[in-house]
Amino acid sequence: MNTTPVKVAVTGAAGQIGYSLLFRIASGDLFGPDTPVQLRLLEIAPALKALEGVVMELDDCAFPTLAGVEIGDDPNTIFDGANVALLVGARPRSKGMERGDLLEANGAIFTVQGKALNDHAADDIHVTVTGNPANTNALIAMSNAKDIPTERFSALTRLDHNRALAQVCAKAGVPVSEIRNMTIWGNHSATQYPDLFHAQIGGRPATEVINDQAWLEETFIPTVAKRGAAIIEARGSSSAASAASATIDHTRDWLQGSSEGNWLSMAVRSDGSYGVPEGLISSFPVTTSGGRWEIVQGLEIDEFSRGKIDASAAELDEERAAVTELGLI
Ligand code: NAD
Ligand code: LMR
Repeated sequence: MNTTPVKVAVTGAAGQIGYSLLFRIASGDLFGPDTPVQLRLLEIAPALKALEGVVMELDDCAFPTLAGVEIGDDPNTIFDGANVALLVGARPRSKGMERGDLLEANGAIFTVQGKALNDHAADDIHVTVTGNPANTNALIAMSNAKDIPTERFSALTRLDHNRALAQVCAKAGVPVSEIRNMTIWGNHSATQYPDLFHAQIGGRPATEVINDQAWLEETFIPTVAKRGAAIIEARGSSSAASAASATIDHTRDWLQGSSEGNWLSMAVRSDGSYGVPEGLISSFPVTTSGGRWEIVQGLEIDEFSRGKIDASAAELDEERAAVTELGLI
């Protein structure tokens, strides 16, 4: 066992995602069985009592990797010395709401948290934003943390990536391990573009194995892009365990590296690659190593994909304009 615990800050810790996420981190799913973690949990004051109950349950699990828990409602205290920050806390969408409706409600949270991270987090801080609208919340946090390198901010599209894998597995009748190089482009919203054209199934082009353009356009893309709404409709509340699991996958693979011959989807600051306007936090195919990500370059983008990538980038651009107007960035 290493001796120095990794400090992991989680916001919205008493919420639905928190209830799944904290136990996974505490049991070693993020850093493995040899690295102790200290959880630093942020909530708003009215939720602190419920959070105390969650901490009692964490204690009762007696996880060998859990090296302590701090809770509080002040981001300046909770982010102090944090090596990793998982920004989950935000109001979720309810039936009938689009993610854009959340911009104003949730945007302000991320200015305060961006500043607090800037002033108090450890030098090696890595930030994953799960709370919606995740891409633009990450943009807000990044813009308010001037001293933290921009590449340390990311937003979650791994849930969309995993949803796309699940749909392909079901259609092709293959296990997840057979699928490589899935890509989600753009925003974590209904405009996202799950791209099968660069994916492989068992080493062959996915679109050769599933040679069905109608399925791709009429079933695959809309099912993945609207899965969040389908879960809200069925469950009465938004996805939680799968969102927590994807938050772990994203952050673990970012810090520990993607596997050889495969890439991941992460929303990161655009450098203008693939025509996505510079500065937007947009999902790309990335490889990771040693806590760094790199956008996969040189992929051929046909006219169909071009239109979809541009549409999602345009939505992100509109969100950026809206939060600029609100004075959040
Ligand atoms: P939830 O309402 O169950 O929990 C959110 C928690 O955040 C609450 O306990 C609330 O008190 C807390 N909170 C609110 N403002 C806060 C602040 N300023 N600081 C700290 N905590 C604060 O919601 P949930 O189901 O856990 O979802 C959390 C967020 O994740 C939502 O925005 C949801 O839409 C989003 N989400 C994203 C994805 C994704 O793939 N990116 C997937 C699922 C859900
Ligand atoms: C999801 O994709 O499940 C979440 O972002 C919840 C939502 O609002 O769709």
